[in-house]
Amino acid sequence: MRMRIGFLGLGTMGEPIANNLRKAGHDLTVWNRTAAKADHIVSKGGKLARTPRECAAGRDLVFTCVSDEKALEAVLEGPDGALAGLAKGDTLVDLSTAGTRAARSVGTRAADRGVAFLAAPILGSKTAAEQAQVTLLVGGAASAREKARPALHAVSARIIDLDEAVHAALMKLCVNAVGGAMIAGFGEALALGASGGLPIWKLVEVIQASPFHSPLFLVKGELVEKQDYSARFAIALAEKDQRLAQEAAADQGAKAPINEAVRRILADAVESGRGDHDVAAVADLYLDWAKAKKK
Ligand SMILES: NC(=O)c1ccc[n+]([C@@H]2O[C@H](COP(=O)([O-])OP(=O)(O)OC[C@H]3O[C@@H](n4cnc5c(N)ncnc54)[C@H](OP(=O)(O)O)[C@@H]3O)[C@@H](O)[C@H]2O)c1
Repeated sequence: MRMRIGFLGLGTMGEPIANNLRKAGHDLTVWNRTAAKADHIVSKGGKLARTPRECAAGRDLVFTCVSDEKALEAVLEGPDGALAGLAKGDTLVDLSTAGTRAARSVGTRAADRGVAFLAAPILGSKTAAEQAQVTLLVGGAASAREKARPALHAVSARIIDLDEAVHAALMKLCVNAVGGAMIAGFGEALALGASGGLPIWKLVEVIQASPFHSPLFLVKGELVEKQDYSARFAIALAEKDQRLAQEAAADQGAKAPINEAVRRILADAVESGRGDHDVAAVADLYLDWAKAKKK
């Protein structure tokens, strides 16, 4: 079924996902703070809205895919914000990793307007987004999930259903807490080995031959070897994810000391000027700390 879709946020993940909605034949209107990022979609027949409100008004489904909870507020709130364009019976789907507090707060404000809210954070990379192979953690009312399902299918390989938006947001934080610990542990181990004279390529090869091997280490290990840190998933976003996990832990009375340490390391990486580098560059920070050879 062809739907009228509004899509706000055309970054690394949002642009290919919105483009897949266009390719699936939906009537797509987009908005991005930096309008030039809409050029490709507009050149292929997508429409460009002047404001978030215009992008959201009169659509069957409205998606947001922005950096964090502050960016989400910026696109939703105010007289030109997307919420102002949404009407009773509409459905808002947030693909951002914006945390549990945002899921609760946006859900409440949407409900006040009679708008259904789904939190649908993404598992997967830029390449997976381009190939419509991401997994979506979709939380919210069953009726809203059914309404959104055809569009969600067009952009993903797998949908994991949860009954509450906040549970989808929390699930994503749990997954990225594991990912953060893996990437920080990997960088630390590479620098430990390299500072004692082990070549990086050999370290990656042997970790991959061990019971602890992982596709993550294979992909990120190659980037460390090549010292190619162009962002697939930026360190600043990864730091934000650990911060959001810390907030959830505090709200829920859970202890998360490993997550806290990982967050500190990622914050150090941001402070060192690596915020817009790929998460693989955590290893580069460790290598600098150890004054280790990078080859
Ligand atoms: N990259 C990944 O591998 C990956 C994987 C899974 C989940 N995620 C999550 O998906 C979300 C999007 O990630 P991404 O990699 O696409 O991020 P990104 O490339 O940094 O894009 C961020 C988007 O948010 C917009 N934005 C930021 N601040 C804004 C503000 N104050 N007002 C309006 N728009 C604002 C940006 O607009 P401009 O273009 O104007 O800057 C851009 O459209 C994040 O929550 C991220 O954690 C990412």
